[in-house]
Amino acid sequence: MTLEDGLRAIVGDSHVLVDGDLKAAFEVDWTRRFHGTARCVVRPSSTSDVAAVVRACAAEGVPITVQGGNSGLVGGGVPAGGEVLLSLARLADLEPVDRVAGQVTAGAGVRLEALQQHARAAGMEFGVDLAARSQATLGGLVATNAGGIRVVRYGSMRAQVVGFEAVLADGTVLTRLTPPAKDNTGYDLTQLLCGSEGTLAILTRLRLRLVPPAGPAAVALVGVSDTTDALAVLAAARSLSALAAAEIFYAAGLSLVRAYGSLPAPLAAEFPAYVIIECTGRTDPTDELVELLASVPEVGDAAVAADAAGRARLWAYRETHTEAISAAGVPVKLDVCVPLDRLSTVVASLADVVPTGARTILFGHLNEGNLHVNILDVPEPEVEKVTEAVLGLIAANGGSISSEHGVGRAKAAWLHLSRTPAEIAAMRSIKAALDPAGLLNPGVLFPPA
Ligand code: MLT
Ligand code: ZN
Repeated sequence: MTLEDGLRAIVGDSHVLVDGDLKAAFEVDWTRRFHGTARCVVRPSSTSDVAAVVRACAAEGVPITVQGGNSGLVGGGVPAGGEVLLSLARLADLEPVDRVAGQVTAGAGVRLEALQQHARAAGMEFGVDLAARSQATLGGLVATNAGGIRVVRYGSMRAQVVGFEAVLADGTVLTRLTPPAKDNTGYDLTQLLCGSEGTLAILTRLRLRLVPPAGPAAVALVGVSDTTDALAVLAAARSLSALAAAEIFYAAGLSLVRAYGSLPAPLAAEFPAYVIIECTGRTDPTDELVELLASVPEVGDAAVAADAAGRARLWAYRETHTEAISAAGVPVKLDVCVPLDRLSTVVASLADVVPTGARTILFGHLNEGNLHVNILDVPEPEVEKVTEAVLGLIAANGGSISSEHGVGRAKAAWLHLSRTPAEIAAMRSIKAALDPAGLLNPGVLFPPA
């Protein structure tokens, strides 16, 4: 019996895909930069089926690439070549919201938007939000410790995770979905798996905390002269108890987004940089936001919206960046974190490391200094050199080479820029203990030994 026959016996014939056309959508990531051929795609629908699939692959020493919504941007969810691609999309059960605990249990394949709607229907909210909400799934969001636009208020994905169920590389199931609210009994395995990028275990179910409903909201799109002035707006906005998001983008991104979406100019004049501030509170935060912006000399101009349609219109200038860039080409896409006191210097220095003729589009999460560096029109032979130069600049300024997208395949070779040799050795020891044969997501996170 072949491995494929064994997998069919576990998940059913129709959930083992071997045909090239059927596999194709699973074999390339959202950026179109990372792709590889999977031996087959297998789509289990329960933790026990995932465990059986893992045991079958382990018995034959066949590596597994784990995939959720395939919205990743670092090649972490697509095969390098020859792996069984294990799609978690069918683990999409959403249990009723536990109102007393303020928590919910959800399958790893539940899409973020579905969780958000589910929480809202129960009078709660989920604390993470990001532009890929309709595609990204919870398992991948936890595995990469995704961030998004609400980190300023609720933290990243790891701050939302209360418990988990996961399958280890030998098929063992770990279930720790509802641990006691306070529990100091040793290693925190939940947090260990957050950000582990599928290299230690396959997350199948998650217990997530919910937050109170956001309340009335107001959004400001603010034009400023440069990054330094954007930071002045952020500094002022920190006094707002209702601050819920602080984002940045620049003139080059705005012009791409406007052309892509046929959008009008957001402000009467053009500015080199733009900040989005969102406030949500128990009472309407609009007046407080408008007053604050009027008191900040660095604000060049601002558009403020309190109604849902107006807010969405302003957010579109920020949230359409990824799509607009992708429509313009396959960028070198680097998600980095820069200490705020180095942000202006780094933004200025990026121009020096980008090849002549390339277009650099910067945007991201201003509150954390989380820049999304997208460089278009880089000839393929120069991609590695450009990546090295940008990540080197970030490391030299005390930043991180991966802020919220993960390391994936894209940045594995540069892990040493953010982690010491001792840290990488410790991480490798953990990997070797939990996955001695290296079957889970090979090539992801770690550079080849
Ligand atoms: C975003 O903040 O919109 C995402 O991280 C996507 C991206 O970086 O392209
Ligand atoms: Zn982002």
